[in-house]
Amino acid sequence: MSANGEQSGAFGFPHRHLLGIEGLSPLEIGFLLSLSQDYADRNDRGSGRSALLEGRTVINLFFENSTRTRTSFELAGKRLGADVINMQVGWSSIKKGETLIDTAMTLNAMHPDVLVVRHPDSGAVSLLSQKVDCAVINAGDGSHEHPTQALLDALTIIRRRGALKDLTIAICGDISHSRVARSNIHLLTTMGARVRAIAPPTLMPRAIERLGVEPHFDMRKGLADCDIVMMLRLQTERMQGSFVPSIREYFRFFGLDKEKLLAAKPDALIMHPGPMNRGVEIDSEIADDIDRSLIREQVEMGVVVRMACLDTLTRHLRPDVAPVGAAAS
Ligand code: NCD
Repeated sequence: MSANGEQSGAFGFPHRHLLGIEGLSPLEIGFLLSLSQDYADRNDRGSGRSALLEGRTVINLFFENSTRTRTSFELAGKRLGADVINMQVGWSSIKKGETLIDTAMTLNAMHPDVLVVRHPDSGAVSLLSQKVDCAVINAGDGSHEHPTQALLDALTIIRRRGALKDLTIAICGDISHSRVARSNIHLLTTMGARVRAIAPPTLMPRAIERLGVEPHFDMRKGLADCDIVMMLRLQTERMQGSFVPSIREYFRFFGLDKEKLLAAKPDALIMHPGPMNRGVEIDSEIADDIDRSLIREQVEMGVVVRMACLDTLTRHLRPDVAPVGAAAS
């Protein structure tokens, strides 16, 4: 089975689930991005609402807190006419001793059409996908993957720069603990961008070069002539022990401020998946700079990318729909 579940065969996007970007082909990624762009255009024209998923059920199953990802999946499902149920599992069921699989089996018995799952453990969403009958979308599993975040980041860049190919993109900060970094690295390298990872040695995964990334341990050197600067949150909740000497020192060496940004191209654009720690990994002045910061647009693109993913993974339920390959042309 592929990283994205068994093949459904009938359409150009041959995966039953969206569990990660790793293993997707440029064509498959391109398809999801062009469908997302279609949804963005429809939204711009004010015709974003549809009845495509009327009578269908989407369950958001979140074992970890989330604001933007959960809300945007909810909005995406509702804009397509689905019934959307939010389940913040948090401590209630876990406290009562229910396992991940028990929860999955309970929900499976309610026959949802799509399960959107976030879980603090890497690999948990893939495990769950093997136990249920419906499509599963990974909304972030541990420090492994967060595919819809990488897709919305890519769409945001493409809308500003036309394409990903040949851009130089720096991903900076807590690479080790970041599922956003991992999914972005897979997507951006697959689509022909040059990717640099900038981090202190304690937050840089070993053998990162194997992912086709150029590692840097100095912000100014790593940012030199970059087109895009993607900042990451310091994920203290995933750290066991101390990875940085102090927040002040971290900001001094790895926080993005006006001065370090001078090393990048004069028109370099700034991104951050949120939630942001202002004054830790990014200076407020930069985050709020309307000419350089894409942070607001990233949130906006989150909804259309998730509409495209829900649409794609439910096409087998609508046999009258044109094959994905045809729509992609
Ligand atoms: C990211 C996540 O949860 O992985 N946030 C998000 O989805 N918007 C990044 C983060 O938490 O730092």
